[in-house]
Amino acid sequence: MSLQDWLRHQLKRLVLGGQPLALVRQVPSLEGRFRDLDAVGLYLHVPFCRQICPYCPYNKELYDAETARHYADAVKVEIDRYAQWIGNLPVTSFYIGGGTPTTMLDSGLAEILEHVYRRLNMQCGVHMESHPNDLSAGNLSTIAAMGIEYLSIGVEALQDRHLRTLHRPYTVEQVTAAVERAVGQGFRCVNVDTIFALPGQSDDEVRQTGHTLVEMGVDQVAAYPLFRFPYTRWSEVDGHGNHSERGLLARRHMLGILERIFYDAGFERTSVWAFTRHRVRKYCSVTVPLYLGLGASGGSYLEDVFFLNTFHVGEYIRAIEAGRMPVALSIELTAEMQMAGWLYWRIYETRFRRSDFRHRFGLGLDQVYGKYIRLLSLVGWLEDDGDELVLSDDGIYWLHVLQDLFSIQYVSTLWGTAQQEPWPEKVLL
Ligand SMILES: C[S@@+](CC[C@H](N)C(=O)[O-])C[C@H]1O[C@@H](n2cnc3c(N)ncnc32)[C@H](O)[C@@H]1O
Ligand code: SF4
Repeated sequence: MSLQDWLRHQLKRLVLGGQPLALVRQVPSLEGRFRDLDAVGLYLHVPFCRQICPYCPYNKELYDAETARHYADAVKVEIDRYAQWIGNLPVTSFYIGGGTPTTMLDSGLAEILEHVYRRLNMQCGVHMESHPNDLSAGNLSTIAAMGIEYLSIGVEALQDRHLRTLHRPYTVEQVTAAVERAVGQGFRCVNVDTIFALPGQSDDEVRQTGHTLVEMGVDQVAAYPLFRFPYTRWSEVDGHGNHSERGLLARRHMLGILERIFYDAGFERTSVWAFTRHRVRKYCSVTVPLYLGLGASGGSYLEDVFFLNTFHVGEYIRAIEAGRMPVALSIELTAEMQMAGWLYWRIYETRFRRSDFRHRFGLGLDQVYGKYIRLLSLVGWLEDDGDELVLSDDGIYWLHVLQDLFSIQYVSTLWGTAQQEPWPEKVLL
């Protein structure tokens, strides 16, 4: 057994008590699930792109206007179904991801948003992902007029040679102009996604990317290392995987370069991979712990259950049209799994509060994880100020590496299977 396999095994035992994680083909009952909730979040998946990037793990297919219109109609029906259950419960976060949501600007996205606002008690601004090629001045006005206040742009790299390697369909000059137009549009937060540790990328190129983004006036940067997912065309690109020592140390070093640039420019750490300007409300995916996922591959998490819609766009539309729920897989979560899931996401956000844990689970955080908290404080990865626990930069990175040891494997198995089979009987993680 390799060191990685051994670590993975130990972590699984620690988090799950040795139980296997099995998602099964079952639609969970929603009866009573919303009764005691204060708020819920909403996620909408837009599974269309104008091109398929070779490294991308997300659920998507090539854009087709007619399919997108049918899809928009199906999503509106799905919203109506949930509206019956959630009634007047406040929806306090709304995130539209993909795929590429901006492919649907002329094929039903505005109607979906209007429908959401008509049917649900929306108490939040909308966060949405976009592709740089969709950000003409006209489209940016349309996006703002739809009520989107937080916009993310998939820039990825600011050197033409890396854009070519990634098969991105634009040049640095074009993408820079798109970002500048978005910054000038007056959104509450413009986030730029970038990927680092690209094949052959130098420290200077990483540095240049960081400085340029600061100078361009973006509010937030999400800088992800290039992950290799086994079911994508780039599973083995550049020879080393996600967890080789060389790869891990190179990523830590490059992330350190970006940390220094963004901290010096007055940005704050808002997640493992994101840096946000001081006083700007961060762009992010669902912010409340409980959420409903709409559309193909939309995932929902409601305290003790997690369920996932079919990934297949045609099957999703057919299920909705036939009056069925499009849920393909679900899993009931034990108390241990819920606590581990809570901690996973709080570590991702780089900080957490003992009082929030108690509020959610009625237990002391130290009762459950006390020895690990003491150990992490001792090695300097965690600062403990009584209620709030804040991870150091090293703690953020290396704890995330540990989390990734099994989460990338879980995501790959789950998404890999769900992308191949619309209605899998069972997925064992
Ligand atoms: C849904 S895409 C963004 C919106 C749009 N589809 C686009 O490509 O511009 C989400 C982001 O995930 C990141 N991403 C995708 N595949 C990745 C990978 N293999 N490793 C690291 N980041 C990745 C990219 O930064 C990408 O912008
Ligand atoms: S990176 Fe963006 S555009 Fe490329 S395939 Fe993934 S979701 Fe689509």
